[in-house]
Amino acid sequence: MKIALLGYGKMGKAIEKIAIAKGHSIVYKVSLENAFDFMPISLENVDVAIDFSMPDAAVENILKCFEAKVPIVVGTTGWYDQFDEIKEKCLNEGQSMVHSTNYSIGVNIFYKLNKILAKMMAGLDDYDVMIEEIHHTEKKDHPSGTAITLANQILAENQQKTSYKGRLVYQANTPSQSLKPNELLIESKRIADVTGDHFVKYESVIDGIEIRHVAKSRYGFAKGAIMAAEWIIGKKGIYSMEDILKL
Ligand SMILES: NC(=O)c1ccc[n+]([C@@H]2O[C@H](COP(=O)([O-])OP(=O)(O)OC[C@H]3O[C@@H](n4cnc5c(N)ncnc54)[C@H](O)[C@@H]3O)[C@@H](O)[C@H]2O)c1
Repeated sequence: MKIALLGYGKMGKAIEKIAIAKGHSIVYKVSLENAFDFMPISLENVDVAIDFSMPDAAVENILKCFEAKVPIVVGTTGWYDQFDEIKEKCLNEGQSMVHSTNYSIGVNIFYKLNKILAKMMAGLDDYDVMIEEIHHTEKKDHPSGTAITLANQILAENQQKTSYKGRLVYQANTPSQSLKPNELLIESKRIADVTGDHFVKYESVIDGIEIRHVAKSRYGFAKGAIMAAEWIIGKKGIYSMEDILKL
């Protein structure tokens, strides 16, 4: 498989290592410095593009791949406000795309558990629910894409919450912002060297129930992204990791 890496930062480098070990070749490594060289990409020289770039670059990269008819696996988060437009374009034009806010198999199992738990807790008004996420200090967006996916899964079941509200906690003594009872809190913490830690917490005066996923390295995201790249070749449409893993 000939791969174009759109974004050659922490994730791009992790993907490169696994791809080469699996016998794939990296034909493009695009970063901020050489983003303009990206135009020559075509199906003649690239089988699939993998985008782990930046929130404000991802949509442009997706559109360039659509133009070139090159299948794309998108890992970048922070652009999902434009998801509906991209989805429509992908389907209308017969393009090929995989998206996931988290490519690790463990997180996709965690998503499934979250949905089951949200269904079980729906209507149990004594419990309040919140999400906490912790990532390294270089992460650009907050709340994390993974936390937003978890929130949307809870909102689909929970009758008390109608929207989520993000709160970035820099220090323990940061003044807390007001939160309405119908808002699902996502608390984001940025701590050096944390790859990704997510909690879903239900709390009543009697007890608490908590589920957690902790990423120990970037290997899981990178492995899942390559699995998605191998899978999308030859298919048309827009898919998520859930479709690929069939959980
Ligand atoms: N979905 C997942 O499983 C998953 C896992 C980890 C990270 N992420 C997301 O992936 C993204 C990248 O994460 P990272 O840790 O590698 O970040 P990073 O900051 O280490 O790397 C980002 C790279 O993007 C490049 N870039 C900037 N503008 C570009 C453009 N126009 N075209 C191509 N490349 C460009 C930068 O030069 C840099 O090399 C973030 O949005 C992060 O949240 C997703």
